[in-house]
Amino acid sequence: MLRAARKKFPAGPTEGLKRWSLGPLNNTPLEYFTMVARVYGDVAGLRVLNFKTIFINHPDLIEEVLVTNARKYSKGRVLRANRHVFGEGLLTSEGDFWLRQRRLVQPAFHRARIASYAATMVEYTGRLLQGWQNGQERDAHQEMMRLTLQIVSKTLFDADVERDAQDVGKSLELLLEIGANFRRAIFVPHWLPTPANLRMKREVAQIEKILYRIIAERRASGRDAGDLLSMLLAAQDEDGSKMTDRQLRDETITLFLAGHETTASTLSWAWWLLAQNPAVEKKLHAELDAVLDDRAPALDDLPRLVYTGHVITEALRLYPAAWGMARLVVEDHEIAGYPVKKGMGVAMAQWVVHRDSRWYEASEAFRPERWENDLMKRLPRFAYFPFGGGPRQCIGNAFALMEATLILATIARKFRLRLVPGHPVVPLASITLRPRHGVRVTLESRKKVAAETSFAGPQSAVAD
Ligand code: HEM
Repeated sequence: MLRAARKKFPAGPTEGLKRWSLGPLNNTPLEYFTMVARVYGDVAGLRVLNFKTIFINHPDLIEEVLVTNARKYSKGRVLRANRHVFGEGLLTSEGDFWLRQRRLVQPAFHRARIASYAATMVEYTGRLLQGWQNGQERDAHQEMMRLTLQIVSKTLFDADVERDAQDVGKSLELLLEIGANFRRAIFVPHWLPTPANLRMKREVAQIEKILYRIIAERRASGRDAGDLLSMLLAAQDEDGSKMTDRQLRDETITLFLAGHETTASTLSWAWWLLAQNPAVEKKLHAELDAVLDDRAPALDDLPRLVYTGHVITEALRLYPAAWGMARLVVEDHEIAGYPVKKGMGVAMAQWVVHRDSRWYEASEAFRPERWENDLMKRLPRFAYFPFGGGPRQCIGNAFALMEATLILATIARKFRLRLVPGHPVVPLASITLRPRHGVRVTLESRKKVAAETSFAGPQSAVAD
């Protein structure tokens, strides 16, 4: 990586609104950032009107921003523009308040605690499968969304949102979609009564109604369910004050939003990739048959579901649910020799780095076995960062990986998901990366094929 001579601002499509405009940035951000990285390299300057952002594409620079110099940044503009949705929840809060909340929420994500969620994850997936039949057509993405919403509700808030799942799910989806609009984030204050803002307000109100109900029910019952909600309710400040309903609402909406669509999208992409790569699918089935035989997976199986884990790792590489991240500079310093000033932005894109051929051979190919022999340890730390890094690293990292692996194993043991021909599966880069029109599949029961497969072991060859 070249350290730049002391120039003022890196080269890039600085013509801003004139040439690149917000069009491609807003409408096709994946292509836009890929193009910028290809043309301008590890450091590029982006300018939208007078707002300057440095776009970085090298793992070492990303580490500098997220880890080494983390204190010199706050969260980026898109997240800040959505603060009225997330409030002072973990994702958007800053400074001492964030640290206190992070410490409060952390125990719910400790390894031992997460382990206790495994049975719920498998049980809820089993319930979903009770409604699945050979030959049915479904939208895998909708199914995964409903499932992960139920799991996050049950494990963290001991709430069954079965009756609300559809409403909450739809509202959350809309919030993420509207919230990700760069043009809106940069130019339109959230209080202006534009149609998108009004829609957003309605959806927030819809979710709040349900969240406040869950909070009120728990307060009234006085029950200690031993879950995150009970922990938050019990938490006290040094002066003895407890969390207000508003603070509880901010944390719960954040965890609902951050914690279900991301995992659901990861699984949707995994199904789509598996359906197109029969050799990978076959190897996955072979591992599941060998490890699980005739039973559903459990926590203890995870160390042996190595290939299943690699399928998730690889799906998150090619289709990272958090496809890009941004920060705002709060203290003047330098990036790669370029001065960065307070108020400037810094952006990085998992989508681009994860597909960089400097780190990945055949970087566009879906090859779970690339993760064998400890590739992760050989890569620069930030060549793979689906969960971000540094102090603001995803709190749900281990939760999500366990959940995705258990769901994939539970379903793939019983069903193959065949793509419905002609249905377009295209990525929509909103705050998260999800399939724009879902992933339409036909369910194929695996019972009849179980006898054909045998476990070939982790070293067997798999096609690209
Ligand atoms: C595959 C699934 C997931 C992916 C790819 C993902 C990705 C990320 C990323 C990249 C960040 C850092 C954002 C930044 O630094 O600007 C983040 C933060 C966060 N994630 Fe996740 N996430 C996933 C699942 C989850 C789950 C399951 C939960 C909770 C149940 C969760 C809760 C959070 C929270 C609360 C934060 C903010 C943490 C903080 O700033 O202290 N995420 N996530």
